[in-house]
Amino acid sequence: MSAGAGRPAGHRQEAGGFETLAIHAGQEPDPLTGAVVPPIYQVSTYAQDGVGGLREGYEYSRSANPTRTALEQCLAALEGGDRALAFASGMAAEDCLLRAVCAPGDQVLIPHDAYGGTYRLFDKVLSGWQVSYRPVHLADTSAVRQALAGRPARVVWVETPTNPLLSVVDIAAVAQACREAGALLVVDNTFASPYLQNPLALGAGAVVHSTTKYLGGHSDVVGGAVVVADPELGERLAFLQNATGAVAAPFDAWLTLRGIRTLAVRMERHGLNAARVANMLSAHPAVTEVLYPGLPGHPGHEVAAKQMRGFGGMVAFRVRGGEEAAVAVCGRTRVFTLGESLGGVESLIEHPARMTHASVAGSPLEVPGDLVRLSVGIESGDDLLEDLRQALPR
Ligand SMILES: Cc1ncc(COP(=O)(O)O)c(C=O)c1O
Repeated sequence: MSAGAGRPAGHRQEAGGFETLAIHAGQEPDPLTGAVVPPIYQVSTYAQDGVGGLREGYEYSRSANPTRTALEQCLAALEGGDRALAFASGMAAEDCLLRAVCAPGDQVLIPHDAYGGTYRLFDKVLSGWQVSYRPVHLADTSAVRQALAGRPARVVWVETPTNPLLSVVDIAAVAQACREAGALLVVDNTFASPYLQNPLALGAGAVVHSTTKYLGGHSDVVGGAVVVADPELGERLAFLQNATGAVAAPFDAWLTLRGIRTLAVRMERHGLNAARVANMLSAHPAVTEVLYPGLPGHPGHEVAAKQMRGFGGMVAFRVRGGEEAAVAVCGRTRVFTLGESLGGVESLIEHPARMTHASVAGSPLEVPGDLVRLSVGIESGDDLLEDLRQALPR
């Protein structure tokens, strides 16, 4: 199929409150059987009623698949976008978006603190195609303006809160700077999830997600998404997604949708537990610094309070005694599982410098060795506090 003309698409179709959309957008009962959950269309191809006679526009599952369409419609509704596209991973989503909007010779401003895999995509892959990047302190809007005035950028790539340092970027202010400079503002909304933050409403041109994280929510699926406000950009993305093929599989789309139905209640509990953990750590003598936007002393607290509905479930902290002490804490927890990833119902602990962010070692994005990152789950808060207390040096 060519540019996606006539293909069933992940356009926003419904209105309602967030929790209603999470449960119903794209998820009408199955017209054939009344099944209240969208079926898993585990199928590659579709019978045609005569050559070109497509039923509901479905032709081949790389181009479109009904389970993926349901997920895409739901994501478009939750982010308030015109269109969403679901991918095989967050990195596939990022790659497709960047290739849809950048050409050789373009520059992208990236955060000085970002997910290591995103940095690797710019540093090791896109640089080979003459798309250059420049790390900028994006939490400082005047630094963004200055960088845009120095050399035009095609894209400004924002994470907020950032992975792993939990810095907060003022999306509306950076969006204004991007509009004036003709740059596309992309926001990686993985840490916040659409329940806590909607970057398109604040002026961003595109939102990306690793749906592997809070959207899926159960550490059982890898996926990604792009959501855009502009239908023309949506068409370009759909063309490239079909042309290059890193689509979400039907079962993965189904699992992600199942996770999304409880996103709102999960995010509430993640936030409550994370606030308790951050407060406990702040008072602990073995901890030198706690990075959590919900703490009033966090440099991004006010901006976060303005643009987010809550402060999320991610907490980072620095351990007295340096890297070895931080690594030792990661090895002593019992309820927090030592592992990469985040956003699942179970609590995870990791050492970014040696794990998720090993790919930024020696770069301007290098993370401190004494840093520990927590993905605070939705277990009993008392158990989480107790577990961290016994893992920290006395
Ligand atoms: C903020 C952020 N963006 C993007 C990604 C990449 O997503 P995926 O692992 O689904 O490819 C990750 C993965 O950890 C992430 O944390």
